[in-house]
Amino acid sequence: MTSTNMEFELFRDFLEKACGIVLGANKQYLVASRLNKLMEQQGIRSLGELVQKIQVRSQLREQVVDAMTTNETLWFRDTYPFEVLKNRILAEMIKASPGQRLRIWSAACSSGQEPYSLSMTIDEFEKTNLGQLKAGVQIVATDLSGSMLNAAKAGEYDSLAIGRGLSQERLQRYFDAKGPGRWAVKPAIKGRVEFRALNLLESYATLGKFDLIFCRNVLIYFSAEVKRDILLRMHAQLKPGGYLFLGASEALNGLPEHYQMVQCNPGIIYKAK
Ligand SMILES: C[S@@+](CC[C@H](N)C(=O)[O-])C[C@H]1O[C@@H](n2cnc3c(N)ncnc32)[C@H](O)[C@@H]1O
Repeated sequence: MTSTNMEFELFRDFLEKACGIVLGANKQYLVASRLNKLMEQQGIRSLGELVQKIQVRSQLREQVVDAMTTNETLWFRDTYPFEVLKNRILAEMIKASPGQRLRIWSAACSSGQEPYSLSMTIDEFEKTNLGQLKAGVQIVATDLSGSMLNAAKAGEYDSLAIGRGLSQERLQRYFDAKGPGRWAVKPAIKGRVEFRALNLLESYATLGKFDLIFCRNVLIYFSAEVKRDILLRMHAQLKPGGYLFLGASEALNGLPEHYQMVQCNPGIIYKAK
């Protein structure tokens, strides 16, 4: 792929407006490595030509954004969020709203490992706290990437993906073998999760209110202003006293009027004020 600095700047602008992702000034190689195949398939020879084409071709625009997102994920990522949920937060939520269905939002769910890990955590809680979650739990899982959402909805994984963070015990309990090296999430775990396409830059109004929001390992790609705007709008989607979970290496940096930091040892979560 050939590209001038000017073309790269135009592409950076497009990407930030489309999905919030901010590319560093010297990330031409990243753009090339992620878009070369698509551009070759489409017969597009330069980044400038691509920027022109995506103005008028919405499907190509979606494919480009999809290719530029980082979809790295694993089961029970960082461990503590799921332990804290099972050992502390679920009981607190049930006590605060007895008899009500709990709602959890996995706000950048990638290929589904996060929402399905949440669903397995709910199942583990139910097994040791019989009858306490009678009204059930709904997990709404959203992502911008169509290809990731399709993979997540299918709920089938190869051994490489399964090997990342899933214990043998959970694999046996929550998955059905689908052939050599392929596993499918069991219907009972899948049934709790509803997948929807959502760009975090757009409105959350149709999602309703949540008891918990998991927004992990996605805000790191955005500018400070976009991150702040998203965190404020997520606060508006949280029920009072609900919790926000960020990635282990992420922090809120501000917004003390909206969120209270809660130390979990290990890990930090944020309670909506
Ligand atoms: C690194 S993955 C994180 C997955 C999971 N939350 C975890 O922590 O393992 C980041 C995800 O954010 C999604 N993403 C990036 N920009 C987005 C946006 N503007 N709106 C919604 N999702 C976005 C990507 O498609 C990708 O699936």
